[in-house]
Amino acid sequence: MYNTWEELTQACQECHKCGLCETRHNVVVGVGSKDAEVMFIGEGPGENEDLQGEPFVGRAGKLLDKMLTAVDLDRSKNIYIANIVKCRPPQNRDPKPEEQQMCIDWLRTQVKLMRPKIIVCLGRIAAGRIIKSDIKITREHGQWFEKGGIQMMAMLHPAAVLRDPRKKPEAFDDFLKLRDKINEICDHTY
Ligand code: URA
Repeated sequence: MYNTWEELTQACQECHKCGLCETRHNVVVGVGSKDAEVMFIGEGPGENEDLQGEPFVGRAGKLLDKMLTAVDLDRSKNIYIANIVKCRPPQNRDPKPEEQQMCIDWLRTQVKLMRPKIIVCLGRIAAGRIIKSDIKITREHGQWFEKGGIQMMAMLHPAAVLRDPRKKPEAFDDFLKLRDKINEICDHTY
């Protein structure tokens, strides 16, 4: 168990627990404020993230930033963003269950150190791992679940919204629900 972000970050960057370490350029630990009350969790780094060492910096990330801005959230100020797996799966395939299993302790430690009040899962992989394994993202995105004293919501993955822009209004609706919940239970996000 790591007691500080420095210990966690260093150990995570040296991780060789699964085969993804062989093809990575960077370990993508996370980005944002370490005392944020709101944590976003994606699936895993893509090509741009792998090259730059930061989550959600490609096209999907730009859309995510836009929607965040619309509800006064900012990765450099009042949220933290991490992924289920910290290294890029080749060809952006889904991370395998065993890769997720090997990696999940890093995320658990991040949650322990941060103690967020709200966790937002971006897409099916993160929501299935964090909220419940049989989650139906198309039906259950935007709903609140409570687990271990943390409010959790699944959102559509921004890459899915880019693939089908008709989903934009319902995706944005979830950000409004998030803003309402922040106003209700958070004390230093806004
Ligand atoms: N998609 C994700 O799920 N995470 C990233 O960091 C980038 C794209």
